[in-house]
Amino acid sequence: MCGIVGAVAKRNIVSILVNGLLRLEYRGYDSAGLVVVHDGKLDRVRSIGRVAELATKSANTYGELGIAHTRWATHGVPSERNAHPHISRDLIAVVHNGIIENYEELRTDLTEQGYEFTSDTDTEVIAHLIHSHYAQGSLLVATQMALSRLIGAYAIGVVAADNPHQLIAARKGSPLLLGVGEGEHFIASDMSALLQVTKNVVYLEEGDVVEVNLANYRIFDTQGISIQRPVNVSQLNNDSVELGEYQHYMQKEIHEQPQALADTLESVCNSQTMVPGIFGAEATAIFPQIDSILILACGTSHHAGMVARYWLEEIAGIQCTVEIASEYRYRASVANPNTLVVTISQSGETADTLAALNHAKVTGHLFTLAICNVPESAIIRQSKLRFLTRAGPEIGVASTKAFTTQLAALFLLTLVLAKLRGRIDPEREQQFLHELRHLPSAVKKVLALEPQIAELSRNFADKQHALFLGRGLHYPIALEGALKLKEISYIHAEAYPAGELKHGPLALVDKDMPVVSVAPNDMLLEKLKSNLQEVRARGGELYVFADANTHIKEAEGVHILQMPEHAGFLSPILHTIPLQLLAYYVALQKGTDVDKPRNLAKSVTVE
Ligand code: M6R
Repeated sequence: MCGIVGAVAKRNIVSILVNGLLRLEYRGYDSAGLVVVHDGKLDRVRSIGRVAELATKSANTYGELGIAHTRWATHGVPSERNAHPHISRDLIAVVHNGIIENYEELRTDLTEQGYEFTSDTDTEVIAHLIHSHYAQGSLLVATQMALSRLIGAYAIGVVAADNPHQLIAARKGSPLLLGVGEGEHFIASDMSALLQVTKNVVYLEEGDVVEVNLANYRIFDTQGISIQRPVNVSQLNNDSVELGEYQHYMQKEIHEQPQALADTLESVCNSQTMVPGIFGAEATAIFPQIDSILILACGTSHHAGMVARYWLEEIAGIQCTVEIASEYRYRASVANPNTLVVTISQSGETADTLAALNHAKVTGHLFTLAICNVPESAIIRQSKLRFLTRAGPEIGVASTKAFTTQLAALFLLTLVLAKLRGRIDPEREQQFLHELRHLPSAVKKVLALEPQIAELSRNFADKQHALFLGRGLHYPIALEGALKLKEISYIHAEAYPAGELKHGPLALVDKDMPVVSVAPNDMLLEKLKSNLQEVRARGGELYVFADANTHIKEAEGVHILQMPEHAGFLSPILHTIPLQLLAYYVALQKGTDVDKPRNLAKSVTVE
């Protein structure tokens, strides 16, 4: 989604801006732009499409102060005129992440004052608003006055043509950080954009406004009071993420799952017992107090939460609810102070999940745990307890290794709580630990099915729709399989608990409807088999991912993909892999942009 980079230095900062944007590319965008201040003028370059295009167009641009942006369209189509930075009367330039909710009203006011709008964006009102106050004060004061009129979410960077060594930045509801260099400073929406120049970072807090100069910076809180924020040293590393032998990041990331799982489980698998401390020092005191779990997340992370609900209730005997973050954040819910609120997020920056976390706190929840893949993300910083999945950078928009490592983390949470609540004895604990140690190699075995899945995928290339079925613990896996297929192949896919078929979706089944079923050898197998008969009887083509010994036979219209033996509670992790591969190979057949599917962004930092 949208990305911001800004710099003030005593050298040409154009390549810093462009390289920063390149590091943010994977988040998804449709246009890019930058502006530098040079010789008392704003020099702006914008382009639709890739940052590489912007790099070419700005090759001869020079400036020691500038801001840059990748845009993911919200207000107004992707186009050069809607790309940021937006400029007011050749004096003020602004880049913006987030959404200004009252922009129409502000636009009307500003039009009446004589401002002309050249884009369809909500951002342009910010540029004109700052301009309208600039004559009365400094750039800092003009920005603060403008911000006081905004309703919505923003992270912004601001420069003025007549102020060659200063940039102003502010955030509310969207992430932004300040990079501290020697005699130079930077801003960015994500630390990865700044690793090329510094590892010293100040994480701006909600409502902060910062005045950034060459030699120093000043931060002001929501009240306009000057405050200090700690300078942290980022632990991220700047290694470029190479594709290696793979054709796409998604394929690479699917294959990285054994290692990602081994890394995520490392601390536990190397020890003889599981302790609450793996979720943070305070977990030892907090966990005994909790009597229920509330999981908040979006998309794939929400599916991980849905699997966890089965584990938590069955193994740990603790009541668990799972809610989509964008719904929860607006619901007047009743808080139970003994609930552990668990947010799950790959990026740790998802706007709805972050807002849901804050909503939970405001509602009265005291205990928060983040399960997240990005160490320095907002969700991690704003939670009391944390567990870092160690999937490594996930570049493909379709989440794969983040999902399976989230499941591993949630399984650990289940076991720790189960132990605390006296639900598992030491023998069972050892058995679970054994299964976890074995998990990476079990995943490797499933990955070996890739050629067969590639072959199966051919049957999907000309299909418009697909149904996914699962039951119990594997229903969320069916949901995840359908999400993967729709987001990268653009085939309309829906998932149902197989028992629901005859309550409606069966009406859709005919010879043109492929039905994909997750078929673990568990206690619901016989029920599932009956559901599959219902499909076959209506001419539906079945693709069954069946564990060993399920005795589901290959026949006309019934394609079987033979999985290893049933893996018990960890089975959902194994059954995810072939569905990821299926989506990947169908997308290859369709020739879509696998890693950057249309209309989607990796990090959804706006509502
Ligand atoms: O970074 P998060 O895990 O918070 O992201 C949540 C969803 O946006 C994400 O899982 C999305 O659904 C993926 N594109 C699915 O592959």
